[in-house]
Order: sequence, then C-alpha cells, then structure tokens
Amino acid sequence: MTRVLFATSEVFPLVKTGGLADVSASLPEALCRLGYDCQILLPGYPAALKAARESGSRRKTRFRYGQYDVSLWQTRLPGTAVTLWLVDCPALFDRAGDSPYQDEEGEDWWDNAHRFHLFGRIGAMLALGQLGLAWRPDIVHCNDWQSALIPVFLADSQDAPKTVFTIHNLAYQGLFSHETSRALGLPDSLWRYEFLEFHGQLSFIKGGLVFSDAITTVSPSYADEIQTPWFGNGLDGLLRHKSSRLHGILNGIDTRQWNPEADPHLEFHYGADYPANKSQCQARLQQELGLEVCGAPLLGFVGRLVEQKGLDWLLGVIKPLLERGCQFALLGSGEHHYQESLKTMVREWPGQCSLTLGYNEGLAHRITAGADIFLMPSRFEPCGLNQMYSLRYGTVPVVHGVGGLNDTVFDPNEETTEQANGFVFREATPDALHAAITRALAAREDRKTWRKLQENGMKGDYSWKNRAGEYAALYRNLITVNDRIYED
Ligand code: ADP
Ligand code: GLC
Repeated sequence: MTRVLFATSEVFPLVKTGGLADVSASLPEALCRLGYDCQILLPGYPAALKAARESGSRRKTRFRYGQYDVSLWQTRLPGTAVTLWLVDCPALFDRAGDSPYQDEEGEDWWDNAHRFHLFGRIGAMLALGQLGLAWRPDIVHCNDWQSALIPVFLADSQDAPKTVFTIHNLAYQGLFSHETSRALGLPDSLWRYEFLEFHGQLSFIKGGLVFSDAITTVSPSYADEIQTPWFGNGLDGLLRHKSSRLHGILNGIDTRQWNPEADPHLEFHYGADYPANKSQCQARLQQELGLEVCGAPLLGFVGRLVEQKGLDWLLGVIKPLLERGCQFALLGSGEHHYQESLKTMVREWPGQCSLTLGYNEGLAHRITAGADIFLMPSRFEPCGLNQMYSLRYGTVPVVHGVGGLNDTVFDPNEETTEQANGFVFREATPDALHAAITRALAAREDRKTWRKLQENGMKGDYSWKNRAGEYAALYRNLITVNDRIYED
C-alpha cells in the first residue's frame, strides 16, 4: 500500500481560513478510499491538540530540536478514519485565537517564518524516518508556502520519498527578509535566485516549486494562467521552466458535508429531483437575516473579504441591483475597508441587504441553499469551492471566467442547454459583472430555463472520486520513474 504524508497548515474541521482546509480533509480521505495510506501532518495548534487529547490520543515521541521542545502526536481527523500527526511545539504553535497565521488583531505572527520552518524540518525528519516511528511515506505531498520547505530539506537525501507540491494560491508566497533566512540557519548556498532568493527576499514557496518532483495546482485553467505574467505573481518564468512537471488537477468537494439532501445546517432538505423545499430554505434564511420574506431575487456571497474575491467590483454593482429590488446575503471576514463599505451599504438598505462579519459555517451552508444566485466575481481563483457548493445546492453561480471558475461554470451563451449551469463574465470590470447578473436575473424570470440551469448544476459530479484518481496516477508515476528533481 502506497504511503502518503499530506503536509498542510489547515484542515477542516480543526483549523480553517479557506478552501485549503476543506481540500486537506477531503482529498486525504478520498485517497484512503482509493486504497492509499494517506496520513496528514499539521502544526499542533491548540484546537487540534485539544481534539486529540479529548479523543484519548497520546504523544508518540518527544525530542528537542534546537531551542525547541517538540512532540509528535498521533490521532485521527475528527469524523474520519484518517491518521493525523500533530507537530506540538508550544513555543511556536500554542497561540491565542482561531487563526493559524495571525494574532487576534489580524496581524501576521512575527515569527511565522520560524513556525513554518520548524514545521518543514519536522516534516522532513518524519519523511526520512528520523523520528523513530514505524511509519515512513513513499510520497510527501506539500501544500502552499507553509509546507514548502519540506522538499528543500529532502533534496539532498538519496533515499528520500518523492515530493509533490500543490499550489492552492500563488499570491501567498511566504516572503521574509534575508536576515530571517540567516536566523533560520538556511545555508548561503540556497540564497540564489535559482533556489530560495526572490527579489532580495527569502521565498518559502520557491522551495516547493524548485525542489519538488512534481508541482500541481488546483485547476487546469489556473495551471495555464500562472505561466503568464498577469497571474504569475513574478513566478511565471520559473513555472514555464517547470511546465513539464506542472499539472492542473481540479479540486473535488466533500459531497457528504455539502449535500442539500441531508445537510444538518438546514431545516428543510431537497435534491435535484425534488427541489421544492429550496424555497423554504430561502424563506428561513430571509427570516434569520432580517430580510423581507418575499419573491425578490436573493443574491449570496460567502468568502474572504480580500481583493482576490473582487469585492470592489461587487461594491460597484450592489446599489443599482438593490434599486431594482434584489436582496443580498453577504457573509465574510477580512480587510477592514471592505467591511466598512459593506456596513455602510447595509445601513442604507435595511431589510434588503444583510451582512454577517466573521466565520460562520452554518450560515455559509444556509446562504448557499437559500440564495437564488451565488456571486464569485474573483479577480483570480485557483479553484474555488463555493461555486461547486452552490451548483450542488441549485443556486446558480455568476462568476468571473478565471481559474477553477472557468473549469466548473458554463454559460448558456457559450455552451449547450444540456451543459449550461451558470453565468460567466470574461472582462475584468464591474460592468461585465453587472451585465452577467442582469442576464441571470432575466433567466430567473423564465421558470423553465432557470430550472434547467439549476438541474444541470445539481446533477454535476463534483466529488473527489475521479479527481483523487488523478493524484493517485501522479504518485504512481513518480514512484515508478526513478529520476530526481535535483538532477534537472
Ligand atoms: P479560498 O480558499 O480562496 O478562501 P474557496 O472557495 O476555495 O476560497 O474556499 C473558501 C471556503 O471557506 C469555503 O468552504 C467557504 O464556504 C468558506 N468560507 C469563507 N469565508 C467564510 C465565512 N466567513 N464563514 C464560513 N465559511 C467561510
Ligand atoms: C485557495 C484558493 C482557492 C482554492 C483553495 C483550495 O485558497 O484561493 O481558489 O479553491 O485554495 O484549493
């Protein structure tokens, strides 16, 4: 049985800031179902250690690494049979608040480089069998910059497992100063633009891109986009150089967590063949949010309030849509100025526009079920999970045609009636977003057209079944082909 160590900085339901957490739970589970022995490695954040203790798990080993007292706990990801390893280092991970990266004021922890450098070191030691455990992986699968140093630390070992690095978001690179690089004890030989140096800074993500045996990203369109200057965040040249090792594999979703037929966050359930209860979900949502219960079109948004998500475009179109009677249900947390602009909007339109700030898993499900239209005007979107959740819940998405949105949402103007499931705008402007929403509103007036769009969305297959198989094929390939990246 092939053994995979899946290193990640977030995993649902223990610690989550975005889609990485969802994928880090559902992909390892899907790989286990395919017969892989996939085990997760996560920093020992307080919430994760608490869950481990409460489930009766024990620490497996304890040792010193430099100045740090480190233990490794072996437990299970709650609600699954998947093994979870926790790197317990109180000095670095025992921090207040729910965020894995920031303090309660929303500032990045000053020592994030130290925190995820240590995580990388321990991940590499585990992979090389240096921690005295009986288990050693054949593949180490790293995700985003927080685990990107593992392939660097494995690169010099002849018997190291093969490494895969997945880019969930190229915009977050883990950039730190040269002094930090020195303080971490990284050798000067790595301080070269071919390795970890990036415009005078230390780049964690380059570790994953340069030293992994294979690179993947979370949709085929994003795999193409990041090789262009527009989407490449300064790394497009490197990615073009690595293009033969770069694969776009579309994310799947957890179809048990996100299932309108049995969602515990909903009072009423429905499915593609019995959609009637969706309107009950809408009425309940309107009551919950203080919106008028009426037949007005309800537009939903759930996500991080950051530039990536196209908040400024959204802010540019909300007012004319409110004027024509639309309702809005917005849920998110993020940058202060977006929060303030949205708050002002809501004050001016009570009963028609609702904003919930903060993280609320249940409400995310209820907006996904209760809205007519789900908005994702992202400037860029590596994959995006919310559009797949809304498709599954018969909520028609309006999206910017980039990344994974381009690969999952199909517009009636571009596709057959059998395929169309949402509305896609291609020009990166608020006017284009407005035009797409207007088309969606017109389609909603025609019951038959709307029903067909909803049905196509609800009947789509967004599960991990085949998509996890693509990772499995990649692992198999890496194990059989015996070249190593540093022989490039
Ligand atoms: P990203 O990872 O870029 O944030 P994704 O669409 O891949 O975008 O995933 C976002 C995930 O985070 C989804 O599961 C979404 O429902 C969830 N989410 C984002 N913001 C919130 C929030 N404020 N409350 C609850 N869930 C949220
Ligand atoms: C990132 C991306 C998002 C993707 C998620 C999971 O956070 O922004 O598009 O769906 O990772 O891969």
